[in-house]
Amino acid sequence: PDSEIISCLGSKEGFSHMCLALMGPGDTAMIPSPYFPIHMYGVILASGNVVALEVADPNKFLANVAYTCENMTPRPKLLIINYPHNPSSATIEGDFFVEVVRLAKKYGFLVIHDFAYADVAFDGYQPPSFLTARGAKDVGVEFTTMSKGYNMAGWRVGFCAGNAEMIRGLGTVKGYYDYGMFQAIQIAAIVALRETESAVENQSLIYAGRRDALVSGLKRLGWNVQTPRAGMFVWAEVPEPWRSSMSTMDFAMKLLEEGDVAVSPGSGFGPAGEGYLRLALVENEQRLRQAVRHIGRCLNRNPQGVA
Ligand SMILES: Cc1ncc(COP(=O)(O)O)c(C=O)c1O
Repeated sequence: PDSEIISCLGSKEGFSHMCLALMGPGDTAMIPSPYFPIHMYGVILASGNVVALEVADPNKFLANVAYTCENMTPRPKLLIINYPHNPSSATIEGDFFVEVVRLAKKYGFLVIHDFAYADVAFDGYQPPSFLTARGAKDVGVEFTTMSKGYNMAGWRVGFCAGNAEMIRGLGTVKGYYDYGMFQAIQIAAIVALRETESAVENQSLIYAGRRDALVSGLKRLGWNVQTPRAGMFVWAEVPEPWRSSMSTMDFAMKLLEEGDVAVSPGSGFGPAGEGYLRLALVENEQRLRQAVRHIGRCLNRNPQGVA
């Protein structure tokens, strides 16, 4: 029904305004750590507080959610989750959301699932939707976007679906801030949703090829990297001796200045990202191989990490 879905000007717009609708002084949100910046700052800009919980191991994450609810007064009002996760590429299976719904009902918190990478998955993995869990609509909403799988980032089209009361709150805030979407973009989005399913699948194959080129190249350099099964990023540990001899920000600057390679320092995603880099799969395979060669040359020239 219409009351359970609303279109947004990209999912980030909807997410931030949903935080304004839900949060206020004294309210706390639990968010993944490391965090995609708006998951933290959407809450802070709405005058809320944040508790950041380690995201890498889904069981540990859920145990920490329960622990936080048991030990915090007043209890957290909101849980923000994001799988496939940016920046760490962590993924989950469907039963994860069954447990999220159970905990939400037990402890009385609301849930926002940021499902930005719903369409970008590899090797047969199908990222599960929060809304497939029984009772999900009682406690939360899910944001999807056409920015990633449909390659329409600049067009600003996303959706929020789920709990009608939360959607009504978002609609009220949006009513003050924006007047909706340019009609040509609405029509383009409808055509894309109706006609381009195979192009979206093909897009994932392109990202998988880039992932393989980057991961195998970094492994050849001796880096400790996991192969992501979804999303648009490789989350790589900074190798020694640089990990213990310089900050992640300085290491990223070194790669930029001496290797001409731009990466995101993990510390840009909070303290839990220190010691990691987020490498984006937004260049073609050839350029990614070139980037690996540049990284290898830059670090070989300077193997002790001395600037
Ligand atoms: C986890 C996550 N959420 C939301 C977004 C923003 O997407 P949109 O373009 O729909 O605002 C991104 C894009 O970088 C993202 O990685």
